Amino acid sequence: MKIYIKTYGCQMNERDSESASALLARSGHTIVHSEEEADAVILNTCSVRDQAEQKAIGKLGIMKRLLAEKPGMIFGIMGCMAQSRGEELLEKIPHLDFAVGTDNIHALPEIIGELAKERTKIRRDARFGADTPGIDAHRMEDAAKPYSAFISISRGCNRFCSYCIVPYVRGRERCRSMESIVEEAKGLAEKGVVEIMLLGQNVAAYGMGDVLPPIPENVSPFADLLERVSEIPGIRRIRFTSPHPAFFNGKLIEAIAKLPKVCKCVHLPMQSGSDRILKMMNRPYTSAQYYEIVEKLREKVPHINFSTDIIVGFPTETKEDFQATHFLMHKVGFDNAYIFKYSPRKGTKSSLLPDDVPQEEKERRNQVLLAELEKTNEEKNAALVGETFELLAEGPSKRNPARWSGRTDTFKTVVFPPPPGLKEGEFLQVKITGATSMTLYGEAVEK
Ligand code: 5AD
Ligand code: SF4
Repeated sequence: MKIYIKTYGCQMNERDSESASALLARSGHTIVHSEEEADAVILNTCSVRDQAEQKAIGKLGIMKRLLAEKPGMIFGIMGCMAQSRGEELLEKIPHLDFAVGTDNIHALPEIIGELAKERTKIRRDARFGADTPGIDAHRMEDAAKPYSAFISISRGCNRFCSYCIVPYVRGRERCRSMESIVEEAKGLAEKGVVEIMLLGQNVAAYGMGDVLPPIPENVSPFADLLERVSEIPGIRRIRFTSPHPAFFNGKLIEAIAKLPKVCKCVHLPMQSGSDRILKMMNRPYTSAQYYEIVEKLREKVPHINFSTDIIVGFPTETKEDFQATHFLMHKVGFDNAYIFKYSPRKGTKSSLLPDDVPQEEKERRNQVLLAELEKTNEEKNAALVGETFELLAEGPSKRNPARWSGRTDTFKTVVFPPPPGLKEGEFLQVKITGATSMTLYGEAVEK
């Protein structure tokens, strides 16, 4: 059967779609890249904001038209919304055939097989342990970036930030063993992968069990994992996302500083710069403690970059609270920031509070922070002109295929004319010759 998987949401979902593709391909199916080519469509859904759920439901509605041409077409959902609203959606949407929750990706081949034989409504939402079946299945042959791979190191989350639905839909945190992660990374390296992204809802808490912040300064199983993955020949770059600031300790800072393969860019979700709002969000750190992590890392690695997640318009957020967020953002000088307008999610603690910041004000705050980000990037990128960086070549640039783009280890994109014979996934030295707030431009130089 020809199967198309459309992915919404975060990198965990991207990774889950990849596992699903690998498992389905292994059982004889073909993965296609558009719904028109497909006999079965699976939407991998996201629940983190209402908008994401509406988008997937809208898409399911639009795709009903495909049934007119292919009456046997199978429609399914997987991911967060399938876990939390599977039953309801199977009932409401007549052409929806199955809903597979976040721990049941391995059931997909069997479900598709059953539906090919007999049309029923199928739902799977059981929970499984850390090494959920299929968690290590990769599909390297036709990956967009065969030199780069994601590895899930844990599933679920124990933090219960008051706005967040993830612990409810993805369940409690389950960490994989260090051995199985290292084995997976070694297997990928043997297939030519040079860059690994370690994924989890709170990677810094990896292997810490039920310890609550403040956590000890000198214990970090995640730092130990970074060290183990660093030892694998062939792996040249290691990235990770996302670490919760309250689990970021001295040992992890030390590991990032001392391990050359660990990329010098840290995604550190700040959410707010107001201590009052952070408390209401159940984020157990203050803006000063957040900034301390940034300072300590910069002290050891002066060129390190930071990115972040920020929510604007959390219930009761005043202009002063927002100013505190803007101030902290300015002080850190992020290279990237994902800014979200607060969206109440059913079942979370903050959804019991009135969503009292008007939509226009949320939008205004969003724009202020986006403008701040652009200004920082303009200044920081201009200062890089004349410097030389090692780039991982990622292939022709989207805008101008005659040029290639690549990434520095600080995750900056550089556009450059490719020297003859350069292959995707190779490294080269590039000198920066120009900059905008979004992109750096460069020329290849000899090492
Ligand atoms: N409303 C807005 N943004 C949210 N996020 C999580 N839950 C919500 C919500 N209810 C944001 C957080 C998180 C990112 C993945 O999504 O900033 O870090
Ligand atoms: Fe959600 Fe907080 Fe867990 Fe992140 S750490 S997934 S924001 S509950």
